[in-house]
Amino acid sequence: MSGKADKGLSDRTCRVLDYGERQEEKGRQQFARDVLLGFFRSPKSIPSRHFYDEEGNRLFQKIMDLPEYYLTDCELEILETHRERITGHLGGQAFNLVELGAGDGKKTRVLLSHFCERDLDFRYVPIDICKPALLQLIDICGRDLPGVPIDGLVSEYFDGLAWLSGLNDRRNVVLFLGSNIGNFNASEARVFLRSLWSSLNDGDLVLIGFDLKKDIELLMRAYNDPQGVTAQFNLNLLRRINRELGGDFQVESFEHYSTYDVLSGAMESYLVSRARQSVFIESLRMRFAFEAWEPIHTEVSHKYLAGEISSMADETGFEVVDELSDSRGWFLDSLWRVRKPLTRPARA
Ligand code: AVJ
Repeated sequence: MSGKADKGLSDRTCRVLDYGERQEEKGRQQFARDVLLGFFRSPKSIPSRHFYDEEGNRLFQKIMDLPEYYLTDCELEILETHRERITGHLGGQAFNLVELGAGDGKKTRVLLSHFCERDLDFRYVPIDICKPALLQLIDICGRDLPGVPIDGLVSEYFDGLAWLSGLNDRRNVVLFLGSNIGNFNASEARVFLRSLWSSLNDGDLVLIGFDLKKDIELLMRAYNDPQGVTAQFNLNLLRRINRELGGDFQVESFEHYSTYDVLSGAMESYLVSRARQSVFIESLRMRFAFEAWEPIHTEVSHKYLAGEISSMADETGFEVVDELSDSRGWFLDSLWRVRKPLTRPARA
C-alpha cells in the first residue's frame, strides 16, 4: 500500500489497495503457524478464519443459498425492511461505509442502492483478506451501482481501519454483518469490539449482525445440511493444508460434525478422524498422529440473547442506537454509536 500517496482519492473511483504479493506470503506463514499451534493443542484445533480462501469463499456462498441456512435470508429481510430507518440514523454528512469481511456483498447492495437513491454522500470501503473475493465484489458493485465510489482494501480488518483513519476525517459507518462476530467466543468478541472502538472516532456508527438463540433443531439443520455443503466447507480446511502447506491429508477419512453447546451458546464444529492415521505437513516438516475418532475443533458460531448484545455494547464503549430484527425474530442487526467522552470516567 502506498499510504499517503493515496490521500485525496478522486471522487468516482473503483480501486483495490493491497500489500501485493507479500500479503499472500504473510497469509501462508500465518496459516502454517496457526496449524502448528492448533495441532499441538488438546483437543487439536484450526482457527476458523482460515476457512476463507478462494475455494472456501465459493463454498460459503453455496451455504448462503441453502434453505436450511436461514441467517442470510433473515438479514436480507432486515436490511430491506429497515433501510429507510437505517438511513435516518446517518444524518446528512458525508461518510465512509466500511465493511469488514464483505463476502459477495449481496446484503450490502440493498443498503448501497438505497443510499444512492437517497443521494447520500458516501464512499464504500470493503475490507477483506481474500483478494479474489474482493475483486469479484468490486466487479459486481461497479456494474450494478456505477455511481458509488469504491475503495476495496485487501488487508486484515484493523490494518484496513488504521489506513482509513489516515485517509480522511469523514464519519465512519462500519458494517460487520452476517453473524461474522459469532466466530468469536465471549471474551474474543469483547476484545474485537474494543479494538474496533479504539480505531474509530466519537460518533462513528457500527451495524453488527447477531444470530439469536433459537430452537436447537433449527440451529442443527443450518449447520448440518443434507446436501453436505457445510461438510465440504469444513473439510476444505484440510484440503487447504494439502494445497498450501504440502499436507497429505486423506480428506475422506475425516467427517464433519457440528453440534449445539447450550452452555457456551454456540454451534461447535469439528472434523473427526474416522480412523487411526497420521499426516505429514511438508512446510512444517512434521508428522501429526490422529487416533480413531479424535476431533479437530474448527469453528464456534455463537448465538446471542438480545440482552447479551446490549450489555456487550455497553461494556466495550458503545451506545445502542437501534435494534432491527426480522419477522421471525431469529436474527438481530444492532446499530451502535461510538462513545468517547472527553473526561475521565469517575472511579466506581
Ligand atoms: C460466516 C461465520 C457467519 O458461523 O454461521 C456457515 C460460517 N460455518 N456454516 C457461521 C459458517 C458453517 C458462518 N459465518
